[in-house]
Amino acid sequence: MSSFVLLSFAIWLSFVSCLLSSSQARWHHHTKQKHSHRHRHSYISHPPSLSPSPSDSPDDGYYINDTNIFDVRAFGAIGDGIVDDTEAFKMAWDTACQSEDDSVVMLVPYGFSFMIQSTIFTGPCHGYLMLRVDGTLMTPDGPDAWPKNASRRQWLVFYRIDGMSLEGGGVIDGRGQKWWDLPCKPHKGPNGTTLPGPCDSPIAIRFFMSSNLTVHGLKITNSPQFHFRFDGCKTVHIDSIHIKSPGLSPNTDGIHIENTNGVQIYNSVINNGDDCVSIGSGSYDLDIRNITCGPSHGISIGSLGVRNSRACVTNITVRDSVIKDSDNGVRIKTWQGGYGAVRGITFSNIHMDNVRNPIIIDQFYCLTKDCTNQTSAVSVSDIQYTNIKGTYDIRSPPMHFACSDSVPCTNLTLSEIELLPAQGDIVLDPFCWNAYGDLQTLTIPPVSCLQEGLPSSVNFNNDNEYC
Ligand SMILES: *[C@@H]1O[C@H](CO)[C@@H](O)[C@H](O)[C@H]1NC(C)=O
Ligand SMILES: *[C@@H]1O[C@H](CO)[C@@H](O)[C@H](O)[C@H]1NC(C)=O
Ligand SMILES: *[C@@H]1O[C@H](CO)[C@@H](O)[C@H](O)[C@H]1NC(C)=O
Ligand SMILES: *[C@@H]1O[C@H](CO)[C@@H](O)[C@H](O)[C@H]1NC(C)=O
Ligand SMILES: *[C@@H]1O[C@H](CO)[C@@H](O)[C@H](O)[C@H]1NC(C)=O
Ligand SMILES: *[C@@H]1O[C@H](CO)[C@@H](O)[C@H](O)[C@H]1NC(C)=O
Ligand SMILES: *[C@@H]1O[C@H](CO)[C@@H](O)[C@H](O)[C@H]1NC(C)=O
Ligand SMILES: *[C@@H]1O[C@H](CO)[C@@H](O)[C@H](O)[C@H]1NC(C)=O
Repeated sequence: MSSFVLLSFAIWLSFVSCLLSSSQARWHHHTKQKHSHRHRHSYISHPPSLSPSPSDSPDDGYYINDTNIFDVRAFGAIGDGIVDDTEAFKMAWDTACQSEDDSVVMLVPYGFSFMIQSTIFTGPCHGYLMLRVDGTLMTPDGPDAWPKNASRRQWLVFYRIDGMSLEGGGVIDGRGQKWWDLPCKPHKGPNGTTLPGPCDSPIAIRFFMSSNLTVHGLKITNSPQFHFRFDGCKTVHIDSIHIKSPGLSPNTDGIHIENTNGVQIYNSVINNGDDCVSIGSGSYDLDIRNITCGPSHGISIGSLGVRNSRACVTNITVRDSVIKDSDNGVRIKTWQGGYGAVRGITFSNIHMDNVRNPIIIDQFYCLTKDCTNQTSAVSVSDIQYTNIKGTYDIRSPPMHFACSDSVPCTNLTLSEIELLPAQGDIVLDPFCWNAYGDLQTLTIPPVSCLQEGLPSSVNFNNDNEYC
């Protein structure tokens, strides 16, 4: 609740700053016209509209009509990587967002590096807004440079926007190293200890309560924490992005999704230090295709049901993808004591390369060693694993289905599974506990621990599974 209060305050603040900045933007507009030939892209749509002469057309040709392009430099951004360009970005956003055009571009031009602070870009906007990043966008450099009054939990936030794309050939750099090295991060304290928190670090890009979003083509690197988080969103298309952080950077999930539906993640590469894609409660209708993860902690549904909460995740497909050098492959993890269901999940055509736990369901997820056994659980059913081949790290068995004592996993379907040890010839047996399902083909290694049919105790009208 307190974050809601903070957020309301932030919305109010940005509303006030909208009022301020729209008048400033007009002022900029008039002063800027004189300089528009120095900044080729610096046209603003307010009348009198400038018709670009042919010599003004950009040579890279991604647009032909630039009357609706708002170049951040036209609002005073410098882009030398040192100056704080936050105010110019806010003004450019507010002007583009309020423009009467049906479609506007806020341009972060090629060849410049813009340092900006934690900012909430708020909608709704009048038309469709493209934030085109061709240059570099970067955070202040680490916790000491982070303004004391700015949120330490998020950097760029897009809030209440219907119809936006974030795209371009540029780089979004979270400069995470100094955050990863904080003494409250795992083993970063004196002599390899971990000092107590709070240890908040910013999520690089967060979309909140928004819809019809596209993220395309960018490189996002070294986030202090998650690279992307979508919560409360609808209709999200992510294509051809590259997320890159070191394998040992803590908590740097690639794309985190929660309370969000209708998500496509296609043709992307994610190298990071935590989950490649993590899917939280309230997510449904997700399609993930042709992504390469690794190093990473794999693709995770969960963790769900923490502190006896209800969690529902349904209709998720992950296919035609590669997971390499990762702690997990495809994982479902739930805490004991939760409610709700994970249902209708398909993992197909996935190549594993040196993956620990390529296929894993863990209904005993616990971060400490002393979670007590509880009788309720988020139920797991209708999970299909098809054509999953490759190699596993022999420290763990290639298949691991650890299901709740009271709520067994049901209808797990395996076909065309071939997982071989990445090194040596020690073959580990799959592990099952309270797992029910079918083998549609023979598997390598053979699975003999899956129980056929349905458990006699399953109550199909179980209110606990209500979603
Ligand atoms: C540029 O776009 C505006 C609206 O977006 C349109 O009214 C105008 O005709 C366009 N100009 C050219 C030269 O295409
Ligand atoms: C933080 O403080 C600075 C300087 O006092 C101010 O310019 C900025 O707007 C503040 N930022 C927020 C998010 O309140
Ligand atoms: C999303 O935005 C595009 C571009 O403006 C528009 O054509 C499309 O209809 C929108 N889709 C939805 C579901 O609103
Ligand atoms: C770190 O370990 C060294 C050697 O064991 C010891 O002398 C030193 O006091 C330790 N430092 C801290 C802060 O614990
Ligand atoms: C898969 O994604 C990669 C980028 O990671 C791209 O180069 C390749 O063309 C995509 N394959 C297909 C079939 O779209
Ligand atoms: C599952 O999600 C896909 C989109 O990924 C959607 O097309 C399909 O209709 C959904 N299926 C059901 C049963 O809702
Ligand atoms: C919890 O349940 C698991 C599985 O039945 C069992 O192996 C473990 O010993 C139990 N732990 C406690 C503390 O009762
Ligand atoms: C088992 O799960 C599959 C999807 O993985 C689904 O199509 C099928 O209907 C389920 N079977 C039963 C008996 O629920």
